[in-house]
Amino acid sequence: MTPAIGGSGYVVKSLEAALWAFHEAKDFREAVLRAVNLGDDADTTGAVCGQLAGAYWGESGIARRGGRVWQRSPAPGARRLAWWKVTRRLVNIGRLLLLGTHWSGVRMADIGKTTASGSVTLNQPLDFRSDTVTRPTPAMRAAMAEAVVGDDVFGDDPTVITLQERVAHLLGMEAALFVPSGTMSNLIGVRLHCRPGDALICEADCHLFYYEQGGYAQLCGVAARPLPGQHGVLTLEQVQSQLFPDNVHFTRTRLLCLENTHNRGGGRVQPYETIEALCGWARQNGLRTHLDGARLWNAVVASGIAAAQWAQHFDTVNVCFSKGLGAPVGSALAGPAELIHEAVRHRKVLGGGMRQAGILAAAALHALEHHVDRLVEDHRNAQRLADGIRQIDGLRLNSETIDTNIVVFHVHSQRGSAADLVRRLREQGVLVVASGPSTIRAVTHLDITTADVDRALEILASEVAGLS
Ligand SMILES: Cc1ncc(COP(=O)(O)O)c(C=O)c1O
Repeated sequence: MTPAIGGSGYVVKSLEAALWAFHEAKDFREAVLRAVNLGDDADTTGAVCGQLAGAYWGESGIARRGGRVWQRSPAPGARRLAWWKVTRRLVNIGRLLLLGTHWSGVRMADIGKTTASGSVTLNQPLDFRSDTVTRPTPAMRAAMAEAVVGDDVFGDDPTVITLQERVAHLLGMEAALFVPSGTMSNLIGVRLHCRPGDALICEADCHLFYYEQGGYAQLCGVAARPLPGQHGVLTLEQVQSQLFPDNVHFTRTRLLCLENTHNRGGGRVQPYETIEALCGWARQNGLRTHLDGARLWNAVVASGIAAAQWAQHFDTVNVCFSKGLGAPVGSALAGPAELIHEAVRHRKVLGGGMRQAGILAAAALHALEHHVDRLVEDHRNAQRLADGIRQIDGLRLNSETIDTNIVVFHVHSQRGSAADLVRRLREQGVLVVASGPSTIRAVTHLDITTADVDRALEILASEVAGLS
């Protein structure tokens, strides 16, 4: 119902209509965000006002046609509104906006932007630290809110079951298990394949070895044989050197772990022939294979090679929904049914048994449906970022090839450390991470627009200039 505030004249009518436009929102913040979502360009406060007015017009029977504003009257026909009446309405909307921001504590400057995904964020720093920082879009939140759930530890959450079947199908595997994180998924993979005293072969910069606290050693009693790769890519000769004779002095080499795309390798897509060769060798020599495919979706989009084709070379595959796909939480481990049945036990002892997990699985399903193909935009934005970095004196790309959504670059030592530049950028509202003493990593994702990349490049150029 339209709020009844009585009276007549344009001021009261504007107020009434604006209130009606906000009527369905639960609070002012949501009303503003909804209104912003209606428009094309919400980068400025002025545009926000315009879009609030747009929302208001939609609700009050006022239409824009041929660049003019028309009032649709209850009787047939329409009359054109005088410019001053339109202006007055806009002013009233602006006043209302100010009043509302005062009531709600939302600052005008905090009202943000509509991203490529259609989600609205408050005006926060440009966050290039990782593709894990994305917020669920309104559509994803809606899917989560509507999810049919059960108790997944009893195995009867229908949304989790649907997700697991979807992932298994996409990867061409018999089964999949929904788990809270990529770290847990990798850990369970290792536990499935290895016993204490076994060893795994991996690339020295891979996530499993570099960033997961040596969980394979802490919690599985497994040793690692890390090998230095080229942007995360190993050669056949390297892995061949890691087979040891069956002798009490040696650990048993049991597992080959690969990562695709490779995070610290700058989002590198593993060459398909390399995967074929390494995994073929592993199988011939009785080794199991595990793929950390936290960003396998990026590899699929960048290479045009289907997920199942990549996955066919591995016994188990971890995929994540909370990286480029933009879900808030969750990964899955896929593999043969027998192994995944066993994986349920490992997940439980690691504390990963979740109850009404369908709420999270719904976000993952939504992400698989809507956020895979669009990764191409993130890749394009990463290329644009890299192109800009090439032009900045004092910076150097770690690799001339940018395969996906991760850009790693070096700061020239005469300009200071990566940490210095990261700090300066943070002060200017651009967030990146120092991935080494002189290296910085920037990641594009669902909440980064092309305009954000351009803005970040401007700031980067000016901060690097200020370093010397
Ligand atoms: C390649 C790779 N594997 C695994 C993980 C771990 O995922 P999570 O943070 O969900 O534990 C990450 C996290 O960024 C990653 O980049």
